[in-house]
Amino acid sequence: MCGIVGIVGREAVAQRLFDGLKRLEYRGYDSAGICTVQNGEFERRRAEGKLENLARELTVEPLYGDVGIAHTRWATHGAPTVDNAHPHIAGPVALVHNGIIENFKPLRDELLADGRKFLSETDSEVVAHLVAREIERGASPTDAVATVLPRLHGAFAIAFLFKDYPDQIIGARMGAPLTVGYGQGENYLGSDALALAPLTQKIAYLEEGDWAVVERDRIQIYDRANQPVTRVIVESGASSARIEKGNYRHYMQKEIFEQPIVVAQTLQSYVRPFEGKVALPDFDFDLSTVNRVTIVACGTSFYAGMVAKYWFEQFARVPVDIDVASEFRYRQPVLEPGGLALFISQSGETADTLAALRHAREEGQVIAVVVNVPTSSMAREADLLLPTHAGPEIGVASTKAFTCQLAVLAALAANLARAKGRMSEEEEREIVAHLQEAPEAMNLALGHDDDIAQHAHLVAPARDVLYLGRGPDYPMALEGALKLKEISYIHAEGYAAGEMKHGPIALIDDLVPVIVLAPSGPLFEKTVSNMQEVRARGGKIILISDAKGLAEAGDGCVATIEMPEVHPLIAPLVYAVPVQLLAYHVAVAKGTDVDQPRNLAKSVTVE
Ligand code: F6R
Repeated sequence: MCGIVGIVGREAVAQRLFDGLKRLEYRGYDSAGICTVQNGEFERRRAEGKLENLARELTVEPLYGDVGIAHTRWATHGAPTVDNAHPHIAGPVALVHNGIIENFKPLRDELLADGRKFLSETDSEVVAHLVAREIERGASPTDAVATVLPRLHGAFAIAFLFKDYPDQIIGARMGAPLTVGYGQGENYLGSDALALAPLTQKIAYLEEGDWAVVERDRIQIYDRANQPVTRVIVESGASSARIEKGNYRHYMQKEIFEQPIVVAQTLQSYVRPFEGKVALPDFDFDLSTVNRVTIVACGTSFYAGMVAKYWFEQFARVPVDIDVASEFRYRQPVLEPGGLALFISQSGETADTLAALRHAREEGQVIAVVVNVPTSSMAREADLLLPTHAGPEIGVASTKAFTCQLAVLAALAANLARAKGRMSEEEEREIVAHLQEAPEAMNLALGHDDDIAQHAHLVAPARDVLYLGRGPDYPMALEGALKLKEISYIHAEGYAAGEMKHGPIALIDDLVPVIVLAPSGPLFEKTVSNMQEVRARGGKIILISDAKGLAEAGDGCVATIEMPEVHPLIAPLVYAVPVQLLAYHVAVAKGTDVDQPRNLAKSVTVE
């Protein structure tokens, strides 16, 4: 995730753009930059790392000009270097971009063939060149943007600045947020209301496909068909203390809905779709020497690790141990040479996990960390740092960080399998193709939000709820139960479906909703047999499956939730969505504090 600010002002803008970036720093902070127009020329300052580095640049070489754009970056394409930092300039156009241009490769090839020179490794720079080319051919900025936008695939929020038209900025959005702000004789663009809070409280959220020409005394918004439209101007009420929820009621809801984008964003760092290869960030040890993986994490991150155990063993045939961090050090685990210890954490600060990491290091393990906060303690202590690009997760219940963890872990398992010589090129290509399908399948799963909200009334009155699954859907059952417990305060348990008959089935009566996760596939029939055993004892079943599975086993369930039919590899990413949404809607129905449930904290820094 990146943050964008733009000002078409009456007076110098650099300091105010910088202040806007500070408010967006939660969105990314591995490089930042500002570009203004002064005397008909672009002036730009960029810096790697935190905003204070950019502040230093601005002190040494101040920026002037009353129109400008600014960006704080969470790197996706290209390392967080100054060259890759935004704004990018191509001839008469400067641009800042949040999101991913999925078809940047063919566009870049086309532009290279046209003789254009690239100065960064980013996907964003192609957009600057496309618009620049139109302007150099004689188009106005508005016509150039209108011509180029339909050529872009993927998710983006973009702000364009034009050297020869210093009275305007153009913003566009598709799949990434962008707001326009209305001031007194000047106007603004920003990733969210928070960025614009000190400048104006009057904002409008652009809708999917919208683009806007922002001038000092007017803002004209167009829809994706290039028709002028008006969007409601609202009082943002944003203060510097809050990160904006946009049009969502809760951060958790927003974060659930962000998942297709952030999973796609995360995958960009771990797969090379055009080559059909998985990839890892640089590290200096030989993965092929790994003879055991020890996974350690807490809570939801632990369940991501449980899913990964299936993948590491299935693909790489490497034995895996897994522990909750609070137990790990105290059972005196045997950690032998050649072991990779893998720590998974959203915050990177969870005290139990951090302590376990340090213990594993003392025991001579190579340390891999899957983490969402790239500046966290765990990130700093990793030999192999595997960032998730979920962006800041504000809701206490982890959602998007979890599915991004799954995406990284699947890619890591495939990398390990390749390094161990246990996966053919063809198998690797298939894995990459299936991973690439995940964001769209998650989008389809999100399309069932309304049905799931309807089913919440079946669960909200319950005192106890069971979740059942087999194989990788067993940890997903555990995760579903955890989500429900923590935000709705209903007692819930996840079980391996086949384990019910060894005791837990005694709990079943007609007051206990039983949520069964059963994608059609190798384990479907066995899971359904276990489900029938529950139903025979009066259990009220909510079956989550695909159309095929529901056709076979949906009869007699109190409710069914249809998922797209997907490859088993990505089923955990897709089935995360309905269990999150169900927990969310039950909590809303019960009126609990969804984003800040009682007794919990986002970052658990005590053991
Ligand atoms: C559940 C949840 C917690 C965290 C756990 C670990 O929704 O958020 O269970 O997963 O506290 O936190 P991290 O991942 O930051 O180490």
